[in-house]
Amino acid sequence: MSENKLNLMDILRPEPNLDQQGDAVDSMLKEHEKINEMGDMVRERCLDIMHGEDVDEAFLRNFIRFARDYADHLHHGKEEKILFPTMTEELGLVVEPLINTGMMVDHDFGRYHIAELETALNNYLESGEDMDRLEILTHACGWADLLARHTNKENMVVYQFARRALARETMDEIYRKCREFDDDPKEAALREEMLELMEDMRR
Ligand SMILES: [Fe+2]
Ligand SMILES: [Fe+2]
Repeated sequence: MSENKLNLMDILRPEPNLDQQGDAVDSMLKEHEKINEMGDMVRERCLDIMHGEDVDEAFLRNFIRFARDYADHLHHGKEEKILFPTMTEELGLVVEPLINTGMMVDHDFGRYHIAELETALNNYLESGEDMDRLEILTHACGWADLLARHTNKENMVVYQFARRALARETMDEIYRKCREFDDDPKEAALREEMLELMEDMRR
């Protein structure tokens, strides 16, 4: 453990490794803002349900779509396929526990909340039972809370660690791969669609 700490300090630079064009982390930070905006909208809608308003199926179906297509596919996809593998490959044991038992497990819990929310919504629409209504609130707010904590850990620790520990060339390569992913016409269209969906979901 103490060896890890020594290695960690050895590889960190005092300042982030940035150039004027920004880096892949910049766009990931902006995606976190959108994810947390969605989390806030979901919490507000859950509060309405708690106060007795009808369960808004269209809102919740859109939320499930956003969680899967934007948060998971477009955002976690880049972390899981590009950023995290590069970090573990380049930095090894120093970051492996943080990535594999921290960030990746959080992503899986997020998927769990969304799967359970979808089941609860389907059950509620069929049964109208209070217990299913409670499950909807539990898993919708569970996702919002989990993602708020998760994105904060990435903003404050994981992303800053990548910026300070990875070589400049490595950060450039991550940036190139992320741009390639984001600029793919299919992914770009999906991103546009998700942001419009989010606007439609605002009251
Ligand atoms: Fe993440
Ligand atoms: Fe993230």
